[in-house]
Amino acid sequence: MNILNPKVKEYIEGAIPARKAPLDEMEAYAGEHGFPIIGPLVGTLLKQIAYSIRAKRIFELGSGYGYSALWMAQALPEDGKIFLTDRKEENREMAIRHFEKAGLLDRMEFFVGDALETFKQHEGPFDIILNDIDKTGYPDVIPYVKGRLKSGGYFITDNVLWSGRIFDDELEDSTRAILKFTKHLYDDPDFLTTILPLRDGISVAVKL
Ligand SMILES: C[S@@+](CC[C@H](N)C(=O)[O-])C[C@H]1O[C@@H](n2cnc3c(N)ncnc32)[C@H](O)[C@@H]1O
Repeated sequence: MNILNPKVKEYIEGAIPARKAPLDEMEAYAGEHGFPIIGPLVGTLLKQIAYSIRAKRIFELGSGYGYSALWMAQALPEDGKIFLTDRKEENREMAIRHFEKAGLLDRMEFFVGDALETFKQHEGPFDIILNDIDKTGYPDVIPYVKGRLKSGGYFITDNVLWSGRIFDDELEDSTRAILKFTKHLYDDPDFLTTILPLRDGISVAVKL
C-alpha cells in the first residue's frame, strides 16, 4: 500500500532541494542495494526537528550506514554529538567514510552490537532518540526511552504504518509489534504523539 498518494509524493519529493554529497551518494547506494533508508522527506523532517530544539545530543537505534544520522548531524552545533548503533561492522565503516566526507566525523560515535543493549549503557539525557531497529524489537525500546530523554525532547520512530500491513487481517510478528508499540506510545501520558503519514509512517512523540 502506498502511504502517500503517489501524486502528493511526487510533488513534495520534487519540491525539496537536490541533496549534496555524500547524501546523494548514500541515496544512490540505497537504491542500488535495496537498503531501507528513511529517505529525503523524513531526513528533512529530522533535521528540522533537530534545528528547532537546538539538539546537542542524539541517540539512534538502528543506524545502517548513517543516512538518517547524517541528516540530524547537520543540525548539531560544533560541540554536539550523535550516537549511532548497528549490528554490522560494515555499516560502521561506511558511516565513518560518509561522515568524514561531510566534515562531521567529530560529531559522531558509532557502536557495533545490539542497539538496545548499547542504548541501555548510555544514560542520556538526549534531545532526540530515533528508533529504526528490527520491528519486533520496538516494544522493548519504550521503557528505556523516558528516563533518557529531556523534557521537550523527541522520540521518533520509523515504519509505524509498515506499508499498510497494520490493516492486514492476519498479522505478522513485526506488524503486531508495531501495533503494540504505537498503542503504548499514544497511551503514555508522558508523551504527546503524532503519526505523520510520510513515506512509511513516522511517529513523532515529544516528552512532556
Ligand atoms: C532500516 S535500517 C536503518 C536505516 C537508517 N536509520 C537510515 O534511515 O539511514 C535498520 C538497521 O538497523 C540494524 N538493526 C536492526 N535491528 C537491530 C538491533 N536490534 N541492533 C542493532 N542493529 C539493528 C540493521 O542492521 C539495519 O542496518
